[in-house]
Amino acid sequence: MLPAQKWFPLNTDRLLLREFALGDEDAIHEYGGDPLLSQYASWGPNSREDTHTGLIKRLDEQLVWPRGEVTLALELLAERKVIGAIRLGISDEENDTADFGFVVNRRYWNQGYATEASRAILHVAFHTLKTRDAPRRPPPERRVSKGRVARFVCLWLAL
Ligand SMILES: CC(C)(COP(=O)(O)OP(=O)(O)OC[C@H]1O[C@@H](n2cnc3c(N)ncnc32)[C@H](O)[C@@H]1OP(=O)(O)O)[C@@H](O)C(=O)NCCC(=O)NCCS
Repeated sequence: MLPAQKWFPLNTDRLLLREFALGDEDAIHEYGGDPLLSQYASWGPNSREDTHTGLIKRLDEQLVWPRGEVTLALELLAERKVIGAIRLGISDEENDTADFGFVVNRRYWNQGYATEASRAILHVAFHTLKTRDAPRRPPPERRVSKGRVARFVCLWLAL
């Protein structure tokens, strides 16, 4: 069942997972326009116009509640800057199944931000939304190390 109450924003040690705002456009474009980030994705690399149109669409979506898909900005608290995004979607409401995905600005890779955000989102998936499964398509080998996949599996078990 879709949640009656909004379950965000979420705070982690270094991040605020929150809805997007108009002022985030430059920061979003910094990662959305990076061809390396979207090379295996269905989107991007985004032109400046794509970023603007996408943000306006996102702001419209944010007016709707409840909704089965939520994409949140990853705001780095130390810089008050959006460095990526994370999405949680109810993929099969009848079977209580969700999926999630994320992107982090390349300048901020290898500092554990995706892990930190995913931990918070998985907590919501299992405890707030009470989905039974959170399937995640394994990204191509080139982008995600075995260590990272293993860590996510561990996170699932640790919740
Ligand atoms: C996948 C992606 C989000 C990873 O971003 P990230 O923030 O660097 O990812 P992580 O949180 O997993 O960072 C972990 C790495 O940082 C290191 N690290 C440094 N400090 C850390 C900390 N405090 N906590 C955890 N890991 C830390 C780890 O050693 C780890 O390296 P490893 O995976 O080789 O073991 C990023 O590469 C990206 O945006 N890719 C394009 C989009 C994509 O593929 N999305 C995923 C599929 S939806």
